[in-house]
Amino acid sequence: MDRILIRGGQRLAGRLPISGAKNAALTLMPAALLTDEPLTLRNLPRLADVDGFGHLLNQLGASTSVEGTRPDEFGRVMTIRAGRLTSTEAPYDIVRKMRASILVLGPLIGRGGEARVSLPGGCAIGNRPIDLHLKALEAIGAELEMAAGYVRATAPGGRLSGGRYRFPVVSVGATENVLMAAVTARGGSCIENAAREPEIVDLCRCLVAMGAKIDGIGTDMIEIEGTDRLHGATYSVMPDRIEAGSYACAAAITGGELELTGVSADDMGATLSALTEAGVRVEPTRDGVRVAADGPLRPLTLSTAPYPGFATDMQAQFMAMLTLADGASVLTETIFENRYMHVPELARMGADITVSGRTAVVRGVAGLTGAPVMATDLRASMSLILAGLAAQGETSVTRVYHLDRGYERLEEKLSAVGADIERVSDG
Ligand code: EPU
Repeated sequence: MDRILIRGGQRLAGRLPISGAKNAALTLMPAALLTDEPLTLRNLPRLADVDGFGHLLNQLGASTSVEGTRPDEFGRVMTIRAGRLTSTEAPYDIVRKMRASILVLGPLIGRGGEARVSLPGGCAIGNRPIDLHLKALEAIGAELEMAAGYVRATAPGGRLSGGRYRFPVVSVGATENVLMAAVTARGGSCIENAAREPEIVDLCRCLVAMGAKIDGIGTDMIEIEGTDRLHGATYSVMPDRIEAGSYACAAAITGGELELTGVSADDMGATLSALTEAGVRVEPTRDGVRVAADGPLRPLTLSTAPYPGFATDMQAQFMAMLTLADGASVLTETIFENRYMHVPELARMGADITVSGRTAVVRGVAGLTGAPVMATDLRASMSLILAGLAAQGETSVTRVYHLDRGYERLEEKLSAVGADIERVSDG
């Protein structure tokens, strides 16, 4: 199994290219199921989850062809052709490994009036039920049947009616699923308290490029007028704001300066404000955002919230950064109930963190020391990488497959800006 080995203490400096967004890619790929014409996605990140999603689409009968950008370039172009679907089922074996697989539910009902998807079960960061996906789909006309760990959803007469649904809690995935189901409904739909994440905006824009009629894009009330059929399109995946935020924390924790290229500062408001408040200099550039840290980091009080609030996907990385701040920070995780798995690992590196319920108090320490640590989920893994970059001595992060799900060629990107980092294979 691979590990990432870091010899900490190097100041990072230079330009670091940001890849296409994982969480946008994982909702744009299933959107291809909505049409029998090709959907070409540009700037698709090279990630294990993207490959995994490609395999799921293949199992449903869609073909995926990848045009190589050169191996030394980031991203790639994938054309998905869902001319004729041969299956409408997302099996347990795939869904349990990749929760985002449930995002085929909406487009499959939208396309053919039928889908059978395994219930995903638990996850390292929380319970993560899919009840809201199902309630929203029911509200726009789907009939649901649960059996043997699967949900079967059908549209009476082969096509959903459309309808109105107000989410009691903001859900990114459920908003995406119901949107993709509603675009080909017979009538109109209105989704209230919809998620407003930039990845939802990206999905809406792609659906519009495919012929969908959507109003209120980027707001919490999305109105959709169903259309008979969608057509193919070519669409470029938005840059990954979470990857960019993670590398911004890398600059901050190493007292370095990075220009994150290809990213849009507009999508990163809460992250960039928090960095500024921590004493990090942030400035938009022609190509992206420059982040520079030269003084001590100031402590922060942060609470995660749906967009435009501070992203739960940035909590672990900020926590790593704040372990070295000049004072005590208070972080509250409001989205997932078990998203502090990185805390005991950071503690093994010398961090002083106390968790009580959903709140973590992070008391800044003078320095971290390298240690063998274990990754538990994607963002937790990144927090360990960040701590390793700043720690004295050697840090070895195991269970690297978590990182490979969401960070394209992490060690290459970081070593190009001065980190002493390598991937080692223990056979
Ligand atoms: N929730 C329910 N019922 C549902 C759906 C969600 O109770 O039917 C709850 C969840 O348990 C959670 C909250 O609602 O407490 C928000 O969950 P949401 O549905 O918004 O999350 P998601 O769609 O499952 C996506 C990202 C996550 C990211 C969250 C929140 C993808 C593939 N995943 O998950 O990304 O943390 O939104 O922003 O887009 C990551 O990239 O590391 C990651 C976990």
